[in-house]
Amino acid sequence: MKTQYYTATSLDGFIATENDSLDWLFSLGDVNNTSYPDFISNVGALAMGSATYEWMVRHADKIADQMGTAWPYTQPAWVFSKRKLPAIAGADIRFVSGDVRPIHAEMRLAAGDKNIWIVGGGDLAGQFYDAGLLDEIMVQVGSVTLGKGKQLFPRRVLSPVLRLVAVHQLGHAMVELRYEVNKD
Ligand SMILES: NC(=O)c1ccc[n+]([C@@H]2O[C@H](COP(=O)([O-])OP(=O)(O)OC[C@H]3O[C@@H](n4cnc5c(N)ncnc54)[C@H](OP(=O)(O)O)[C@@H]3O)[C@@H](O)[C@H]2O)c1
Repeated sequence: MKTQYYTATSLDGFIATENDSLDWLFSLGDVNNTSYPDFISNVGALAMGSATYEWMVRHADKIADQMGTAWPYTQPAWVFSKRKLPAIAGADIRFVSGDVRPIHAEMRLAAGDKNIWIVGGGDLAGQFYDAGLLDEIMVQVGSVTLGKGKQLFPRRVLSPVLRLVAVHQLGHAMVELRYEVNKD
């Protein structure tokens, strides 16, 4: 029953280019050869910010081609925005805004004995971290640099440091790192 920020990043710490492109990511490997299938099978609820959601809306056709449906999640999802966003037919989505703490409590109830996935972006994951609600950061670090873009985790975490608990090499272009957030 953990709250996990699970994402891919460039070597220099960006999860998307400044104009929200993920094209750099798809050439790095097949998602089915990563921890993702096992990870997602243990997710009971997920949250994302509006830029991440709008990327999915813009790429609905591509997602449907690959996954069979424009919205690939069976778990309930919470999308954070101060704006009114378009819904996706058939998707279990709640549009929310503001303090992450009451929303995390709702997500915890919905997730039952499964984990909560913070999909991104980095600042939203940071809001859960700030509230003491983030347990793990799981990153797939690609062997590319972007120079600038959307930051992986725009927070200063110095002491206590994150605790590295697993490292897994994926071919020659990715490494998966799993960190526990030290709450002491
Ligand atoms: N590499 C990967 O594996 C990976 C994973 C996830 C995402 N991504 C990509 O990374 C990019 C992330 O974009 P981003 O950094 O801009 O982050 P984001 O979290 O997707 O979107 C940020 C926006 O969400 C809304 N928001 C965030 N917290 C809120 C709160 N507490 N209450 C209300 N609204 C809130 C705000 O916009 P408004 O209020 O104006 O709507 C904010 O500007 C996207 O392009 C996404 O596709 C990549």
